[in-house]
Amino acid sequence: MSGAVPSGFLALPRVDPTLAREVQENLDRVEALLRSTVESSNPMLTEAASHLITAGGKRFRAMLVLLAAQFGDTGAPDLIPAASVVELTHMATLYHDDVMDEAELRRGSPSANQRWGNSVAILTGDYVFAKASELLADLGPDAVRLQAATFARLVQGQILETSGPARGVDPLEHYLQVISDKTASLIASSAQFGGMFGKVDPQTVATLTRACDALGMAFQISDDLLDVASETSDSGKTPGTDLREGVLTLPMFHALRSTEPEDERLRSLLGRPLDEEEAEEALVLLRKHSAMAEAEATLDGWADRARAELATLPHGAARGAFETLCDYVVRRSG
Ligand code: IPE
Ligand code: IPE
Ligand code: MG
Ligand code: MG
Repeated sequence: MSGAVPSGFLALPRVDPTLAREVQENLDRVEALLRSTVESSNPMLTEAASHLITAGGKRFRAMLVLLAAQFGDTGAPDLIPAASVVELTHMATLYHDDVMDEAELRRGSPSANQRWGNSVAILTGDYVFAKASELLADLGPDAVRLQAATFARLVQGQILETSGPARGVDPLEHYLQVISDKTASLIASSAQFGGMFGKVDPQTVATLTRACDALGMAFQISDDLLDVASETSDSGKTPGTDLREGVLTLPMFHALRSTEPEDERLRSLLGRPLDEEEAEEALVLLRKHSAMAEAEATLDGWADRARAELATLPHGAARGAFETLCDYVVRRSG
């Protein structure tokens, strides 16, 4: 074992140091597999597909696979490819999402679409999916089925976000469906993969999957809050991207429900594409609006749901790490 020093979430003082070291060592193996998997005979494709790996990222979903396996066999050999598959799937969706959202910055670097244009960004996302599938094939049909169902939900979430609520559907319900599909699905499946390949007992896998489904909801709500509240250097993304693109997120739904005359200007700026000046104005108005605190309360509620699931698991370092993860998701700044 290399004795890798834990970083990021794993370096938090409340995470058991032995668990942190073990998970970090496996994350280092995942990192090497991510890099070798996207290598191509075409140098430009290798560069474009390595771009987001090199730029950074938290490897949150890979870590979830490895953390879930802490309830079972942490040395199971398929854990490393399984963790790499979920991370590559996530990364591929980022290539496509940045095209959809016209995002210029990702992981603190220019997005692929900004650097090479939309065509290269879309094709690179497709290539990364293909390479994830290659790894997945060796993990067997159950893994392929889980991945396919998760990916279908993820795409459905992105489509639902793009199409907006159908007639008669409550916009807030629509939003919850969108984030459940586009984000919570892969986060829950990451825990499920870790349980499957870590030989965790099925009841614990089911509990972890439910916990991570709620955690995934919290994760996306905190991302939506960060888009309004954060500075570029913290999140590695450009604040206000949702506002600029007219994508409605939780704090905006709360602001839209206000009937106060003083909120009229903000309401008129939400849910439609904005120019730079309008986006800045909307950011300033939304940052100081009580809608932010309302969305934070909803975020806390989802983290509490995750904690309630985790409370049914046996005490120990693995459960402790997941509980610390709930606090981390609520408080994260990047
Ligand atoms: C960004 O995910 C997309 C969302 C689902 C919010 P992450 O916040 O996990 O992004 P990276 O992988 O750390 O860059
Ligand atoms: C995240 O979408 C979900 C996927 C990438 C499928 P967002 O558009 O909300 O995420 P960021 O803010 O660009 O990371
Ligand atoms: Mg986006
Ligand atoms: Mg998006």
